[in-house]
Amino acid sequence: MEEIGIESWTGPFDPATRERAQEALERGLVLFFPRLPFTLADSEKDFLSADVANGKSKNISLDPMTGKIQGTALSGARAEALAAMIERFGAGATRLVHELLPNYADVERARTSYRPVEVKGRAYSRISDDRLLHVDAFPSRPMRGRRILRFFSNVAPQGARRWQVGEPFENFARAFLPRLRNPVPGKAWLFERLGVTRGRRSRYDEMMLALHDAAKCNVRYQQTAPHHALDFPPGCSWMVYTDQVLHAALGGEFALEQTFHFDVAAMGAPERAPLKVLERLSGRALV
Ligand code: SIN
Ligand code: FE
Repeated sequence: MEEIGIESWTGPFDPATRERAQEALERGLVLFFPRLPFTLADSEKDFLSADVANGKSKNISLDPMTGKIQGTALSGARAEALAAMIERFGAGATRLVHELLPNYADVERARTSYRPVEVKGRAYSRISDDRLLHVDAFPSRPMRGRRILRFFSNVAPQGARRWQVGEPFENFARAFLPRLRNPVPGKAWLFERLGVTRGRRSRYDEMMLALHDAAKCNVRYQQTAPHHALDFPPGCSWMVYTDQVLHAALGGEFALEQTFHFDVAAMGAPERAPLKVLERLSGRALV
């Protein structure tokens, strides 16, 4: 974990801090902001309840392009107020990323989410159980090598968000690649045609999804893989490449999350991107 002591969501941040932040992220560390709380207005405090979720989706999510909110049981003015809170967080996180990581110039703001349901007690299928170590890969949104960077804030009045992080991506990939089954020919094309995916999955996407599933389904790996615990207390924020860092969320409620995408070429050390690691290990182009 790399601690960044900033207390403001807006820069300018000093060049040494910016450099340290980017370097640590790309090395696969979690950036930890112990003094960067996302503060709720008094009128927003009643969103601190699992009842704001509709009980069907894992998270409440906001599409920043349309402003549409999904997954909430609220309606009318309360749903709008919740959307405004999530939007304020997403806009703040986006500005922070621009100012703290200015080299990631073309960073794209993707979905913003609010996670009001306690992680621990929920029922999941194994593949969707984020309490198991995994790297992120989206079944319906092909990335074609682009990075997934995520920024979180714990807005719970009490209780840490409890994570585990695992071994370096390359070690994980080396162990699992030889065991992956070959992708079904024509599947990526068919999924695109059927609208299962937005655009066509590349070999990279198929490999990342296979790695995600293989890690979660491997009981022995889950029991014995190297890992350590990270606790994110109330009032802090953190940021991590979730396509690179093996992670599991074991417990906690009331977190906000903003996802970013961008090209590997914007990185200071592109060779650390999962795309480049997998291309090196498999000896072929994957996008
Ligand atoms: C995940 O990305 O696996 C879940 C993270 C969280 O909700 O804390
Ligand atoms: Fe994840």
